[in-house]
Amino acid sequence: MKDLEKGAEIIKKGGLVSFPTETVYGLGANALNPVAVARIFEAKERPAFDPLIVHIADKEQLKEIAKWDDPRLDSLADKFWPGPLTLILPKSDKVPDLVTSGLPTVGVRMPNHPVALALIRKSGCPIAAPSANKFGHLSPTLAAHVLRNLPEVDLVLDGGATQYGIESTIVQVVEDGFQILRPGGITREDLLTVLPESAIQLGIGSPQAPGMMHSHYSPRKPLYLLAPGYTSKQDITNLGYIGFQKPSGRPYLKELILSPSGDLKEYAANLFTALHEMEVSEVIAIEAECVPELGLGIAIMDRLRKAAYSYLEDH
Ligand code: TXA
Ligand code: MG
Repeated sequence: MKDLEKGAEIIKKGGLVSFPTETVYGLGANALNPVAVARIFEAKERPAFDPLIVHIADKEQLKEIAKWDDPRLDSLADKFWPGPLTLILPKSDKVPDLVTSGLPTVGVRMPNHPVALALIRKSGCPIAAPSANKFGHLSPTLAAHVLRNLPEVDLVLDGGATQYGIESTIVQVVEDGFQILRPGGITREDLLTVLPESAIQLGIGSPQAPGMMHSHYSPRKPLYLLAPGYTSKQDITNLGYIGFQKPSGRPYLKELILSPSGDLKEYAANLFTALHEMEVSEVIAIEAECVPELGLGIAIMDRLRKAAYSYLEDH
């Protein structure tokens, strides 16, 4: 693919390339070049206290950027990489402080997408990449989302729609076990196939996880969450509706049902795409139905609550 060669040249020269991963599109730069990494923060308008995830293509690259001697981390990496799991590891001196916002740890993952892996290999360096959106806004699941919101990016590699549609699960080792700092594509149940149950805690409120900020992933229009079965009392004729399985049967201006068969994987894959579609449509606000908080539903409701935070009545 010619664009891949071009992308690798841009990364080598310190530029920015947006690329598809199995979760969402990333905004990548050479993770070992602080000037290139600074361009990510600038393009995203991201505060410097929010550290980046470094993407690798193989375990050799991992040894360059992180040092650890915990076999539990090896079992997680062996089981879930390449895939939507980010591990927080003690960083090596090679990783610029800007990448980790001054933390002694670095978030690392090996994405499961041929374009992402090929770009990292051809560039010859690990690639730091947050989701390719302006800070606090909707994550991109299509190349068109990146082009619309970050036109200043040097190149966008188009790999079609992303498979998971929701970001990686972030896991950190703590003294007596592990914390899930951000729920994501790998569920708690998936982690339990490798880790003992007692060791897993959901890291709500951890000061080291800016992804835990209350407001994030927001569309540029008000978003209201509806409990299942709850009927909104608003005038809905100029509103959008995002439902899980069933049509609302009400006169919304625009309606998107994300998984008629009730599959949370399908819902997650369609969620950000639907929010983007609502954002550019004529609707003045969006109502979204909540989904059951089981399995992937935990990550989905995390995103929905943060996206809707300014519009929840009880905060
Ligand atoms: O699926 C994903 O993870 C996507 C794709 C592009 O790989 N990336 C992504 O990056 O979601 P971003 O920057 O939007 O979210 C990364 C989160 C941030 O909330 C950041 O705080 C957390 O990872 N993070 C990164 N390094 C960390 C560290 N050393 N300690 C704690 N949290 C960290
Ligand atoms: Mg993000």
